[in-house]
Amino acid sequence: MTLSLANSIYSLNSVAMGDKKADLVLKNCNLLSVYTREIIPKIQIAIINDRIAYVGPDANHTIGPKTKVIDVKNKYVSPGFADPHLHIDQFVLPSEFAKKALLCGVTSLFSDPIDVVSVAGNKGFQEFLKLGENLPIRIFQVVPGGLPVDAKFSNSKSLTLSQEKIAVKHPHVLGLGEVFSWTKVTLREPKTMKSISSMLECDCIINGHTAGASEKKLNAYVSSGILSCHEPINFDQVLERLRLGMWIMIREGSIRRDLNEIIPRVLSHGTYLNRLMFCSDGLDPLDITKFGHIDHCIRESIRCGLEPIDAITIASKNNFDYYNMGKDLGGIAPGKLADILIFDDLKSFKPTKVFVGGKLVISNGRFVISIKKKPIPSWIKKTVKLKNFSKNDFLIKSKKKNVVANTIYMESEIITKIGSFELQTKDGHVSASPNSDVWKVAAFDRIHGTNRHSIGFLENFGADIGAFASTWSFHENDLIVIGSSDSDMAIATNHLIKNQGGLVVVKSGKILASLPLIFAGIVSTDSFEKVSSNFEKVNNVIVDSGCKFSRPHLIPLFLPFLALPSVRILSGGIVDVKKRCYIPPIN
Ligand SMILES: [Fe+2]
Repeated sequence: MTLSLANSIYSLNSVAMGDKKADLVLKNCNLLSVYTREIIPKIQIAIINDRIAYVGPDANHTIGPKTKVIDVKNKYVSPGFADPHLHIDQFVLPSEFAKKALLCGVTSLFSDPIDVVSVAGNKGFQEFLKLGENLPIRIFQVVPGGLPVDAKFSNSKSLTLSQEKIAVKHPHVLGLGEVFSWTKVTLREPKTMKSISSMLECDCIINGHTAGASEKKLNAYVSSGILSCHEPINFDQVLERLRLGMWIMIREGSIRRDLNEIIPRVLSHGTYLNRLMFCSDGLDPLDITKFGHIDHCIRESIRCGLEPIDAITIASKNNFDYYNMGKDLGGIAPGKLADILIFDDLKSFKPTKVFVGGKLVISNGRFVISIKKKPIPSWIKKTVKLKNFSKNDFLIKSKKKNVVANTIYMESEIITKIGSFELQTKDGHVSASPNSDVWKVAAFDRIHGTNRHSIGFLENFGADIGAFASTWSFHENDLIVIGSSDSDMAIATNHLIKNQGGLVVVKSGKILASLPLIFAGIVSTDSFEKVSSNFEKVNNVIVDSGCKFSRPHLIPLFLPFLALPSVRILSGGIVDVKKRCYIPPIN
């Protein structure tokens, strides 16, 4: 796909004038005009190659013997939707995600492949870039801007400054992804500031993440050229950021859903809408199937009282204006790329037809083109660099009879606090206490092939299983294993080493459920349907066995995530996030 308007102006101009004939004409469109907030009836749209040449009452002068003419029969026609911030390096390959997103009318994805980079650095970024190309959806990338999360503890890979400079020369790499440790900006951390400066010099976009920042810190962050945030969880945070000239991506995805809190207040306050977008920040396979994607945001916003035309504008035009791509995308007008949706009504917002660059990709709500499978290099399927484990590898030694453990107490799947629990020792080793809901938890460096690991204790998990392990975690991607039984912890870990990544649940020596994630240990190469089914089984097995939380897969995902308080575990040790120090597993 080309984005060059420069190469298209002669043919577009010629078709508009009737001197050349269009490839495709859509007649009898009820056009949702995001430029004028109107629904204009009886519009005709002429398309040549991948762009729109004419929009108006009569396109007959653009029709020749080879022009395909479709009578839209007064159905609603809107520009394609965009998700301005998501991590598509999750669960399935971009080609599989694209199929689901397109069915929801999403024709552009702005991807921040932070976990691929954390596992495989620039080489992984370049590989992922290739996987997002030549698909029937537009995938734009940003260089992850948040790695390492905290250099004192984190061992994730990242791009060097010179690799970042080279990366943004690629036409589909737009700038820097969410700079989520905002203190790196307010403390003017040298690498972060150099990275931001070089992005600004190239006129690149920089996405923000300002959870918890306000007043002078927020001013310092915005003054550094970072103009968007998807973290506001209430209207006051939205307003504070809009007043400082920021753009807001209202998040409605698998990690958080903030739309219902924000949109009603946007309406009652009469807030200027042109700097609002909807984003998912990532969707798991069950959520995109159950709720949908950006179409869901439109439905929910309308239910909250937003006018359909405004919801469509937030879902389309505003995103491309933010990314400085408004001359190419965002609306249905001459010169724009022909990313067009057709709806039967303004209720379901499930398109019956989707055109991307003038090509029909969805018809009657079904995918009508085939996507060629891209080869996956073998090196990215070998990222779990660990040797086999035995139950003895999970022992915690102590000469005392009783010890007080510093536990990671799970308040939710994501929120932790530092707990303490008295545990007994047996034969010089401290045991978990499943009856008291005290588990062992371990983190292993599986990326660099070192022997670095840490073992501690976790409270308030509640499932009657032997072990739960995962190679996918924000944004360290250590192998994390939670267990009540040392031997089941070894079986779970060895399963993930043998299969080179994924999630697995073990009880009494048996694998109860597993989700293979062989691409960098974080993404499956299987079909969406297979991944969705395996993912559901993993969560259901844990929930059905009495887990205190409804989405247990999030527990290993967030356990090493240093951007959240209070206590996290990484292969280097257990970290008190606020005090920025390691704490011992037992006293
Ligand atoms: Fe994000």
